[in-house]
Formats: sequence, C-alpha cells, structure tokens
Amino acid sequence: MKRVITYGTFDMLHYGHINLLRRAKERGDYLIVALSTDEFNWNSKSKRTYFSFDKRKQLLEAIRYVDLVIPEESWNQKVSDIKLYQVDEFVMGDDWAGQFDFLSTETNAKVVYLERTPEISTTQIKKDLNSKNMVTEHVSIVQE
Ligand code: CTP
Repeated sequence: MKRVITYGTFDMLHYGHINLLRRAKERGDYLIVALSTDEFNWNSKSKRTYFSFDKRKQLLEAIRYVDLVIPEESWNQKVSDIKLYQVDEFVMGDDWAGQFDFLSTETNAKVVYLERTPEISTTQIKKDLNSKNMVTEHVSIVQE
C-alpha cells in the first residue's frame, strides 16, 4: 500500500484543489490530507478562512480521492506525520517548489511538487466576488 500525504487550507474548495487531490491519489493507494486548522491559518498564514475547519474537513471527506483528513496545526509536524502514517510520498503544488526538499533527507518519503492548475485560487475567487465587475455583471443579469 503506497501512502501519499499533502497539506493545505482547501478553503472554498475549487477545481484546482480537486486536480491536485486527484493527481496526488493517482500516485499511490491511500491519500492523507493534513488540513490547516483555523488557528494555524490565522496565526501562521494570516489567513481567515471562509469555511471553518469542520466544514472544510467535511467537504474533503466527501471527495473520492481522499482517504483520511488530519489536522495541520504547525509547520513542524510534517516529519512526525510522515513517520506516524508511514508515508511514501509527500506531495504539494509547485507554488511550494523546493521548500520541503529537506523532508526527503529527514524521512524516507519522496518529495514531489505538482504543477498548479492555472488561473484559479481561493484568493482569486474572493477577489472576483468582491470586485465591482462581478457586482455589475450580477446586477445586469438580474435586471434582464
Ligand atoms: N493548488 C493547485 N492549483 C491551484 C490552487 C491550489 O494545485 N490552482 C494546490 C496548492 O498548490 C496546494 C493545495 O492545492 O498544494 C492547497 O492549496 P491552498 O493554498 O489551500 O489553495 P489556494 O487556492 O492556493 O488558496 P489561497 O489562494 O488562499 O492561497
């Protein structure tokens, strides 16, 4: 059984996330997602999530590629997670390229960065929804 792990916030789940999860699962048999808690997001990434940890977890658990969701509470838990869950591969999107290479020397896991899906992110969705264009577009649709 080949085990794969990935980390992230996965707020307002979108097709870029799904693409990442699908390709991560295809690399093995069992996919673990370490999901950033609300506290970790706020304290360490200065991100306030739209959906709470419990809701983001529920969404991830409904995805067929995801076998297990665990909390990510600190930057430093990766080595112990990899050892505890006997992980063979650590996978992240390539916006993190190079940043976790040390894990392959500190553990037996291979470190892989997958190409990000272009033109979509939680930040972009929030920006678009906030932008005047979206509001104008919506208003004109409603008026038609
Ligand atoms: N990801 C991806 N392609 C995207 C967006 C995200 O492959 N278009 C990957 C990231 O590289 C990461 C995982 O999905 O490995 C979770 O990313 P996350 O930061 O939660 O998603 P973003 O949409 O990038 O969120 P934000 O805009 O808040 O950074």
